[in-house]
Amino acid sequence: MLLLKGAAQVASPPASDSPLAGDAMGRIELHTRSDVAIRNGRIVEVGRKLDYPDAETIDARGKVVVPGFVDPHTHLVWAGSREHELEWKLQGRSYQDILADGGGILRTVRETRAADEEELREQSLKRLRNATRTGTTTIEVKSGYGLQREEELKQLRVARWLGEQGLAEVVSTFMGAHALPDDTSRAEYLEQLEQMLPDAAELAEYCDVFCEEGAFTVDESRRLLEAAREAGMGLRIHADEFGDSGGGTLGAELSVASADHLAGSTLDTIEALRDAGTTGILLPGTPLALLSSEFAPARKMVAAGLPLALATDCNPNCYTESMQMVMQLAVFRMGLMPAEALTAATLNGALALGRSNRGAIAPGWRADLLVCDVPDYRHLTYHFGINHVETVIIGGRVVNA
Ligand code: NIG
Ligand code: FE
Repeated sequence: MLLLKGAAQVASPPASDSPLAGDAMGRIELHTRSDVAIRNGRIVEVGRKLDYPDAETIDARGKVVVPGFVDPHTHLVWAGSREHELEWKLQGRSYQDILADGGGILRTVRETRAADEEELREQSLKRLRNATRTGTTTIEVKSGYGLQREEELKQLRVARWLGEQGLAEVVSTFMGAHALPDDTSRAEYLEQLEQMLPDAAELAEYCDVFCEEGAFTVDESRRLLEAAREAGMGLRIHADEFGDSGGGTLGAELSVASADHLAGSTLDTIEALRDAGTTGILLPGTPLALLSSEFAPARKMVAAGLPLALATDCNPNCYTESMQMVMQLAVFRMGLMPAEALTAATLNGALALGRSNRGAIAPGWRADLLVCDVPDYRHLTYHFGINHVETVIIGGRVVNA
């Protein structure tokens, strides 16, 4: 039994089993000067002056308790780094030029293949600790730096191992369709991808495809995602990162769990995704790291009623594990209100990962909670650039990452 005592605010989206959209995204429930009681990994109650004499207590006076952050889109498992590419970008080279020249994803593929499983675990664990320390309690992790069967499975095994470390809970996604390898023909790789699906489905809950010019076409993406669905996997898509290239529309056609990026999506695509029951996952770190000001049209999406979640996209191009940073970018660069950003970083992300027991603070819900050293939840975005998380609780356990 654990009792969080006397929080200035307990702030949470309302418990819901469907993602919040439109005005509901901004309707945070606030309990002032309140306690949160936790037993057997679950929230028991929220209220003033709760009386549990035997409980271990955490003093939350003057602080804010929010649900643990859910990061529903990362490429956390990789080896090496690409700091030199930041300089190239500053000199005017585009992300796609760098990829076409064998850099970008392909560079990380070479470094990830060269690392043995132990090295890959070690490098990735460091990032998982950073994520947990900055408040992420559930994290999606994609493969996609192997681009051949054994190497993709190696990444997925590392993701599974990460999930066993008592840090943020890991949800795995197979993303062999992240780029076309430079050592296999297009047709051959597409065939290999379909052959990988049964084994990938043993290790990964979802399948994702980078549907974009320079990566996979709409038809290739459709074929692969349909095969993944046959193999029992849930579906996600990287879509419309650089313009409305048909990826978002395909996501709607297939009713994928989430369509991610959407920086270039048109209103028609946004409405189609809404009607398909898909959540839009926005990744404002990505345009930031691309030195672009083309952020996803979040206000248009909220107005259209598309439920939004936020994610880091943590990868060697966009290198942050911090959901606080992402919420701040969402507020400062996409116009989300602090309350909307909190909903997008918690409940909506959890539901986009098919987890309907977390992301809100309510009786019976999983006790994934953060005690933040701020006087008001809005300081999570207003006061930017530092880690506000003081205590991380995952499944009712205090985690020291
Ligand atoms: O989501 N766009 C494709 N994949 C990643 C980038 C991965 C990389 O550059 O290594 C993304 O932005
Ligand atoms: Fe991504």
